[in-house]
Amino acid sequence: MKIALLGCGVVGGGVLEICDSRDDLELKYVLVRREKKELGDRAVFDITTILNDKEIDTVVEVMGGLSPAFEYVSAAMKAGKNVVTANKHLVAHHYCELLELAKENGVAFRCTPAVGGGIPWLYNLERVMRLDKVLSFSGIMNGTTNFILDAMHTEGSDFAEVLALAQELGYAEADPSADIDGLDIQRKCIITANVAFGACLLEEEVPVFGIRHILACDIAAAVSMNRICKMLAFGKLNNGSPAVYVEPSFVRCGELEAAVSTNRNVISFDTELTGKESFYGQGAGRYPTAYNAVADCLDIKNGVKSFYTDIMNPVKPDNSAEKHPYYVRFKGSDEWLDSVSIEKCGEGVVTADVSVAQMHAWAAKAKEADPALFFAGVI
Ligand code: HSE
Repeated sequence: MKIALLGCGVVGGGVLEICDSRDDLELKYVLVRREKKELGDRAVFDITTILNDKEIDTVVEVMGGLSPAFEYVSAAMKAGKNVVTANKHLVAHHYCELLELAKENGVAFRCTPAVGGGIPWLYNLERVMRLDKVLSFSGIMNGTTNFILDAMHTEGSDFAEVLALAQELGYAEADPSADIDGLDIQRKCIITANVAFGACLLEEEVPVFGIRHILACDIAAAVSMNRICKMLAFGKLNNGSPAVYVEPSFVRCGELEAAVSTNRNVISFDTELTGKESFYGQGAGRYPTAYNAVADCLDIKNGVKSFYTDIMNPVKPDNSAEKHPYYVRFKGSDEWLDSVSIEKCGEGVVTADVSVAQMHAWAAKAKEADPALFFAGVI
Protein backbone atom coordinates (compact mmCIF):
# COMPACT_ATOMS: atom_id res chain seq x y z
CA MET A 1 0.00 0.00 0.00
CA LYS A 2 1.35 3.43 -0.93
CA ILE A 3 0.33 6.22 1.37
CA ALA A 4 0.50 10.02 1.32
CA LEU A 5 0.40 11.81 4.66
CA LEU A 6 -1.15 15.27 4.93
CA GLY A 7 0.49 17.04 7.89
CA CYS A 8 3.41 16.02 10.04
CA GLY A 9 2.81 17.21 13.58
CA VAL A 10 2.54 15.12 16.74
CA VAL A 11 0.29 12.41 15.27
CA GLY A 12 1.72 12.64 11.73
CA GLY A 13 5.23 12.02 13.08
CA GLY A 14 3.92 8.87 14.76
CA VAL A 15 2.26 7.65 11.53
CA LEU A 16 5.52 8.22 9.68
CA GLU A 17 7.53 6.22 12.22
CA ILE A 18 5.09 3.30 12.30
CA CYS A 19 4.81 3.11 8.49
CA ASP A 20 8.59 3.25 8.14
CA SER A 21 8.93 0.30 10.50
CA ARG A 22 6.82 -1.93 8.22
CA ASP A 23 7.51 -3.60 4.86
CA ASP A 24 3.88 -3.63 3.72
CA LEU A 25 3.23 0.14 3.96
CA GLU A 26 5.16 2.67 1.95
CA LEU A 27 4.77 6.28 2.98
CA LYS A 28 5.69 7.97 -0.29
CA TYR A 29 4.80 11.63 0.36
CA VAL A 30 4.33 13.96 3.30
CA LEU A 31 2.50 17.19 2.55
CA VAL A 32 4.02 19.96 4.68
CA ARG A 33 3.95 23.75 4.68
CA ARG A 34 7.65 24.25 5.22
CA GLU A 35 10.72 22.22 4.40
CA LYS A 36 11.55 19.47 6.93
CA LYS A 37 15.07 18.18 6.38
CA GLU A 38 14.40 14.77 7.91
CA LEU A 39 11.70 14.06 5.29
CA GLY A 40 14.12 14.41 2.38
CA ASP A 41 12.46 13.89 -1.04
CA ARG A 42 9.24 12.74 0.56
CA ALA A 43 8.28 16.29 1.53
CA VAL A 44 5.86 17.87 -0.94
CA PHE A 45 4.29 21.29 -0.77
CA ASP A 46 1.50 20.97 -3.32
CA ILE A 47 -1.42 18.56 -2.96
CA THR A 48 -1.58 18.04 -6.74
CA THR A 49 1.64 15.98 -6.62
CA ILE A 50 -0.27 13.49 -4.47
CA LEU A 51 -3.54 13.70 -6.42
CA ASN A 52 -1.78 13.08 -9.75
CA ASP A 53 0.26 10.12 -8.56
CA LYS A 54 -1.67 6.97 -9.50
CA GLU A 55 0.49 4.85 -7.19
CA ILE A 56 -0.99 6.52 -4.09
CA ASP A 57 -4.04 4.57 -3.03
CA THR A 58 -4.59 6.02 0.45
CA VAL A 59 -4.30 9.49 1.89
CA VAL A 60 -3.93 9.93 5.67
CA GLU A 61 -5.02 13.38 6.86
CA VAL A 62 -3.62 14.60 10.19
CA MET A 63 -3.44 18.34 9.52
CA GLY A 64 -6.45 19.22 11.70
CA GLY A 65 -8.85 22.11 11.13
CA LEU A 66 -11.52 22.47 8.47
CA SER A 67 -9.73 24.22 5.65
CA PRO A 68 -7.75 23.23 3.64
CA ALA A 69 -8.28 19.74 5.13
CA PHE A 70 -11.80 19.50 3.65
CA GLU A 71 -10.69 20.63 0.19
CA TYR A 72 -7.72 18.24 0.21
CA VAL A 73 -9.69 15.23 1.47
CA SER A 74 -12.53 15.88 -1.02
CA ALA A 75 -10.03 16.18 -3.88
CA ALA A 76 -8.32 12.96 -2.78
CA MET A 77 -11.63 11.07 -2.83
CA LYS A 78 -12.48 12.52 -6.24
CA ALA A 79 -9.08 11.31 -7.44
CA GLY A 80 -10.10 7.79 -6.33
CA LYS A 81 -7.99 7.64 -3.18
CA ASN A 82 -9.11 6.08 0.11
CA VAL A 83 -9.03 8.48 3.02
CA VAL A 84 -8.08 7.95 6.66
CA THR A 85 -8.36 10.93 8.98
CA ALA A 86 -7.78 11.69 12.66
CA ASN A 87 -9.57 15.03 12.23
CA LYS A 88 -12.79 14.93 14.29
CA HIS A 89 -13.68 18.53 13.51
CA LEU A 90 -13.57 17.79 9.78
CA VAL A 91 -15.68 14.63 10.09
CA ALA A 92 -18.28 16.08 12.49
CA HIS A 93 -18.65 19.28 10.45
CA HIS A 94 -18.72 17.80 6.93
CA TYR A 95 -20.15 14.39 7.85
CA CYS A 96 -22.83 14.00 5.14
CA GLU A 97 -20.76 15.57 2.36
CA LEU A 98 -17.79 13.31 3.08
CA LEU A 99 -19.89 10.15 3.26
CA GLU A 100 -21.58 11.05 -0.04
CA LEU A 101 -18.23 11.75 -1.69
CA ALA A 102 -16.78 8.45 -0.49
CA LYS A 103 -19.83 6.59 -1.82
CA GLU A 104 -19.87 8.41 -5.17
CA ASN A 105 -16.19 7.73 -5.73
CA GLY A 106 -16.19 4.17 -4.43
CA VAL A 107 -13.40 4.79 -1.91
CA ALA A 108 -12.98 3.79 1.71
CA PHE A 109 -13.31 6.51 4.33
CA ARG A 110 -12.17 5.70 7.88
CA CYS A 111 -11.63 7.88 10.95
CA THR A 112 -11.02 5.50 13.86
CA PRO A 113 -8.33 7.77 15.44
CA ALA A 114 -10.78 10.70 15.42
CA VAL A 115 -12.80 9.25 18.32
CA GLY A 116 -10.97 7.81 21.32
CA GLY A 117 -7.37 8.27 20.06
CA GLY A 118 -5.90 4.80 20.39
CA ILE A 119 -9.15 3.02 21.30
CA PRO A 120 -10.69 1.10 18.37
CA TRP A 121 -14.12 2.54 19.27
CA LEU A 122 -15.67 3.22 15.84
CA TYR A 123 -14.30 -0.07 14.57
CA ASN A 124 -16.11 -1.94 17.35
CA LEU A 125 -19.25 0.15 16.98
CA GLU A 126 -19.40 -0.91 13.33
CA ARG A 127 -18.78 -4.49 14.33
CA VAL A 128 -21.59 -4.66 16.90
CA MET A 129 -24.01 -2.89 14.55
CA ARG A 130 -23.75 -5.73 12.03
CA LEU A 131 -26.12 -7.81 14.14
CA ASP A 132 -27.28 -5.70 17.06
CA LYS A 133 -28.94 -2.35 17.72
CA VAL A 134 -27.15 0.37 19.71
CA LEU A 135 -29.56 1.89 22.25
CA SER A 136 -27.18 4.30 23.96
CA PHE A 137 -23.53 5.23 24.46
CA SER A 138 -21.64 7.33 26.96
CA GLY A 139 -18.17 7.94 28.22
CA ILE A 140 -15.01 9.92 28.65
CA MET A 141 -13.87 10.98 25.18
CA ASN A 142 -11.20 13.57 25.93
CA GLY A 143 -7.76 12.91 27.39
CA THR A 144 -6.93 16.51 28.26
CA THR A 145 -9.99 17.21 30.41
CA ASN A 146 -9.70 13.83 32.10
CA PHE A 147 -6.05 14.56 32.85
CA ILE A 148 -7.01 17.95 34.34
CA LEU A 149 -9.95 16.66 36.42
CA ASP A 150 -7.94 13.68 37.68
CA ALA A 151 -5.07 15.92 38.81
CA MET A 152 -7.48 18.35 40.48
CA HIS A 153 -9.08 15.46 42.39
CA THR A 154 -5.99 13.47 43.32
CA GLU A 155 -3.34 16.16 43.73
CA GLY A 156 -5.34 19.33 44.28
CA SER A 157 -3.63 20.73 41.16
CA ASP A 158 -4.29 24.17 39.80
CA PHE A 159 -6.36 24.16 36.58
CA ALA A 160 -4.02 26.37 34.51
CA GLU A 161 -0.85 24.52 35.55
CA VAL A 162 -2.21 21.09 34.74
CA LEU A 163 -3.60 22.31 31.40
CA ALA A 164 -0.10 23.55 30.48
CA LEU A 165 1.27 20.10 31.36
CA ALA A 166 -1.37 18.40 29.15
CA GLN A 167 -0.25 20.66 26.30
CA GLU A 168 3.39 19.77 26.91
CA LEU A 169 2.54 16.06 26.81
CA GLY A 170 0.82 16.50 23.44
CA TYR A 171 -2.69 15.63 24.66
CA ALA A 172 -4.33 19.03 24.16
CA GLU A 173 -5.52 20.50 20.88
CA ALA A 174 -3.47 23.33 19.32
CA ASP A 175 -6.10 25.66 20.76
CA PRO A 176 -6.94 24.00 24.09
CA SER A 177 -10.28 25.86 24.21
CA ALA A 178 -11.60 22.98 22.10
CA ASP A 179 -10.73 20.63 24.99
CA ILE A 180 -11.79 22.66 28.02
CA ASP A 181 -14.99 24.02 26.44
CA GLY A 182 -15.98 20.50 25.41
CA LEU A 183 -15.99 21.09 21.62
CA ASP A 184 -13.54 18.27 21.00
CA ILE A 185 -15.89 15.93 22.89
CA GLN A 186 -18.93 17.35 21.12
CA ARG A 187 -17.35 16.43 17.75
CA LYS A 188 -16.50 12.89 18.88
CA CYS A 189 -19.99 12.54 20.35
CA ILE A 190 -21.58 13.67 17.06
CA ILE A 191 -19.54 11.22 15.00
CA THR A 192 -20.48 8.40 17.40
CA ALA A 193 -24.18 9.33 17.43
CA ASN A 194 -24.22 9.63 13.64
CA VAL A 195 -22.72 6.17 13.22
CA ALA A 196 -24.68 4.51 16.06
CA PHE A 197 -28.07 6.01 15.23
CA GLY A 198 -27.78 6.47 11.44
CA ALA A 199 -28.04 10.21 12.00
CA CYS A 200 -26.53 13.39 10.62
CA LEU A 201 -26.41 15.86 13.51
CA LEU A 202 -25.36 19.48 13.29
CA GLU A 203 -22.74 20.77 15.73
CA GLU A 204 -24.83 23.74 16.84
CA GLU A 205 -27.69 21.46 17.88
CA VAL A 206 -25.72 19.29 20.30
CA PRO A 207 -25.52 21.11 23.66
CA VAL A 208 -22.13 21.23 25.33
CA PHE A 209 -20.85 22.68 28.60
CA GLY A 210 -17.17 22.55 29.50
CA ILE A 211 -14.85 22.80 32.51
CA ARG A 212 -13.19 26.15 31.75
CA HIS A 213 -14.59 27.63 34.98
CA ILE A 214 -14.31 24.63 37.31
CA LEU A 215 -12.89 25.50 40.75
CA ALA A 216 -11.51 23.51 43.67
CA CYS A 217 -14.84 24.12 45.47
CA ASP A 218 -16.69 22.25 42.67
CA ILE A 219 -14.35 19.29 43.06
CA ALA A 220 -14.99 19.44 46.83
CA ALA A 221 -18.76 19.45 46.16
CA ALA A 222 -18.43 16.27 44.06
CA VAL A 223 -16.37 14.61 46.80
CA SER A 224 -18.96 15.60 49.44
CA MET A 225 -21.50 13.62 47.39
CA ASN A 226 -19.10 10.65 47.19
CA ARG A 227 -18.60 11.34 43.51
CA ILE A 228 -15.86 12.25 41.02
CA CYS A 229 -16.22 15.00 38.40
CA LYS A 230 -15.78 13.75 34.81
CA MET A 231 -16.50 15.27 31.39
CA LEU A 232 -18.96 12.91 29.72
CA ALA A 233 -20.61 12.53 26.34
CA PHE A 234 -24.04 10.93 26.10
CA GLY A 235 -26.22 9.57 23.32
CA LYS A 236 -29.47 7.64 23.69
CA LEU A 237 -32.40 6.66 21.50
CA ASN A 238 -35.75 7.63 23.04
CA ASN A 239 -38.59 6.26 20.87
CA GLY A 240 -36.38 6.58 17.80
CA SER A 241 -35.27 10.13 18.49
CA PRO A 242 -31.70 10.71 19.76
CA ALA A 243 -30.82 12.56 22.95
CA VAL A 244 -27.20 13.75 22.54
CA TYR A 245 -25.25 16.08 24.85
CA VAL A 246 -21.91 16.77 26.55
CA GLU A 247 -21.52 18.00 30.13
CA PRO A 248 -19.44 17.66 33.30
CA SER A 249 -20.94 14.96 35.49
CA PHE A 250 -20.52 13.96 39.12
CA VAL A 251 -20.13 10.19 38.78
CA ARG A 252 -20.55 7.87 41.79
CA CYS A 253 -17.26 6.50 43.18
CA GLY A 254 -17.19 2.84 42.19
CA GLU A 255 -18.61 3.45 38.70
CA LEU A 256 -16.29 2.57 35.81
CA GLU A 257 -15.84 6.17 34.62
CA ALA A 258 -14.89 7.36 38.13
CA ALA A 259 -11.84 5.08 38.08
CA VAL A 260 -10.42 6.37 34.79
CA SER A 261 -7.25 8.36 35.49
CA THR A 262 -4.79 10.57 33.58
CA ASN A 263 -5.39 10.97 29.81
CA ARG A 264 -7.27 7.68 29.57
CA ASN A 265 -10.72 7.45 27.95
CA VAL A 266 -13.50 4.94 28.46
CA ILE A 267 -16.45 4.72 26.08
CA SER A 268 -19.36 2.29 26.39
CA PHE A 269 -22.33 1.28 24.30
CA ASP A 270 -25.45 -0.50 25.37
CA THR A 271 -27.21 -2.67 22.81
CA GLU A 272 -30.36 -4.75 22.51
CA LEU A 273 -28.60 -8.15 22.45
CA THR A 274 -25.04 -7.71 23.75
CA GLY A 275 -25.82 -5.30 26.58
CA LYS A 276 -23.14 -2.94 27.84
CA GLU A 277 -19.59 -3.13 26.49
CA SER A 278 -16.83 -0.69 27.43
CA PHE A 279 -13.64 0.26 25.65
CA TYR A 280 -10.77 1.72 27.66
CA GLY A 281 -7.42 3.11 26.63
CA GLN A 282 -5.25 6.06 25.69
CA GLY A 283 -7.54 8.72 24.28
CA ALA A 284 -4.81 11.06 23.10
CA GLY A 285 -1.12 11.25 22.34
CA ARG A 286 1.22 10.56 19.43
CA TYR A 287 1.53 6.78 19.26
CA PRO A 288 -1.97 5.71 20.35
CA THR A 289 -3.60 8.01 17.78
CA ALA A 290 -1.06 7.18 15.06
CA TYR A 291 -1.61 3.48 15.80
CA ASN A 292 -5.31 3.74 14.96
CA ALA A 293 -4.58 5.73 11.78
CA VAL A 294 -2.21 3.01 10.57
CA ALA A 295 -4.64 0.28 11.70
CA ASP A 296 -7.28 1.93 9.46
CA CYS A 297 -4.82 1.75 6.55
CA LEU A 298 -4.29 -1.95 7.23
CA ASP A 299 -8.07 -2.53 7.35
CA ILE A 300 -8.37 -0.87 3.94
CA LYS A 301 -5.47 -2.94 2.66
CA ASN A 302 -7.31 -6.03 3.93
CA GLY A 303 -10.50 -5.15 2.04
CA VAL A 304 -12.54 -2.55 3.98
CA LYS A 305 -14.22 -0.51 1.26
CA SER A 306 -16.51 2.02 2.91
CA PHE A 307 -17.41 4.09 5.98
CA TYR A 308 -18.76 2.55 9.23
CA THR A 309 -22.36 3.06 8.07
CA ASP A 310 -24.07 4.41 4.98
CA ILE A 311 -27.20 5.66 6.74
CA MET A 312 -27.30 9.41 7.44
CA ASN A 313 -30.68 10.87 8.28
CA PRO A 314 -30.69 14.55 9.21
CA VAL A 315 -32.27 14.68 12.70
CA LYS A 316 -32.36 17.13 15.60
CA PRO A 317 -31.35 15.84 19.02
CA ASP A 318 -34.11 16.00 21.64
CA ASN A 319 -32.85 16.25 25.22
CA SER A 320 -36.17 17.09 26.86
CA ALA A 321 -36.82 13.57 28.20
CA GLU A 322 -33.35 13.15 29.77
CA LYS A 323 -33.63 14.20 33.41
CA HIS A 324 -31.37 14.14 36.45
CA PRO A 325 -30.33 16.41 39.36
CA TYR A 326 -27.65 19.03 38.77
CA TYR A 327 -25.02 20.72 40.93
CA VAL A 328 -25.01 24.43 40.01
CA ARG A 329 -22.67 27.20 41.17
CA PHE A 330 -24.13 30.56 40.17
CA LYS A 331 -23.40 34.00 41.60
CA GLY A 332 -26.53 36.01 42.23
CA SER A 333 -30.14 35.01 42.44
CA ASP A 334 -32.26 33.44 39.75
CA GLU A 335 -35.96 32.65 39.93
CA TRP A 336 -35.81 29.43 37.90
CA LEU A 337 -32.75 28.13 39.75
CA ASP A 338 -34.40 28.90 43.11
CA SER A 339 -37.54 27.03 42.01
CA VAL A 340 -35.66 23.81 41.18
CA SER A 341 -33.02 23.86 43.95
CA ILE A 342 -33.50 21.41 46.80
CA GLU A 343 -30.37 21.91 48.90
CA LYS A 344 -27.17 23.88 49.26
CA CYS A 345 -23.90 22.14 48.44
CA GLY A 346 -20.68 24.03 49.25
CA GLU A 347 -20.62 27.13 47.07
CA GLY A 348 -23.49 25.84 44.94
CA VAL A 349 -26.88 24.11 45.06
CA VAL A 350 -28.24 20.73 44.05
CA THR A 351 -31.46 20.70 42.03
CA ALA A 352 -34.31 18.25 41.73
CA ASP A 353 -34.52 16.32 38.43
CA VAL A 354 -34.20 18.81 35.58
CA SER A 355 -34.17 18.03 31.87
CA VAL A 356 -30.85 18.30 30.05
CA ALA A 357 -32.53 20.59 27.50
CA GLN A 358 -33.72 22.96 30.24
CA MET A 359 -30.40 23.09 32.10
CA HIS A 360 -28.30 23.82 29.02
CA ALA A 361 -30.77 26.45 27.81
CA TRP A 362 -30.80 28.11 31.26
CA ALA A 363 -26.97 28.08 31.52
CA ALA A 364 -26.56 29.61 28.05
CA LYS A 365 -28.59 32.64 29.24
CA ALA A 366 -27.39 32.72 32.84
CA LYS A 367 -23.77 32.99 31.65
CA GLU A 368 -24.54 36.60 30.75
CA ALA A 369 -25.12 37.35 34.45
CA ASP A 370 -22.33 35.09 35.75
CA PRO A 371 -19.79 34.11 33.06
CA ALA A 372 -17.97 31.88 35.59
CA LEU A 373 -21.00 29.74 36.44
CA PHE A 374 -20.44 26.00 36.59
CA PHE A 375 -22.80 23.05 36.51
CA ALA A 376 -22.50 19.29 36.48
CA GLY A 377 -25.07 16.52 36.17
CA VAL A 378 -25.36 14.42 39.33
CA ILE A 379 -25.68 10.87 38.04
N1 HSE B 1 -7.16 16.85 22.54
C1 HSE B 1 -7.69 15.55 22.40
C2 HSE B 1 -7.82 14.91 23.77
C3 HSE B 1 -6.79 14.74 21.51
O1 HSE B 1 -7.28 15.48 24.72
O2 HSE B 1 -8.47 13.89 23.89
C4 HSE B 1 -7.39 13.45 21.04
O3 HSE B 1 -8.54 13.67 20.27
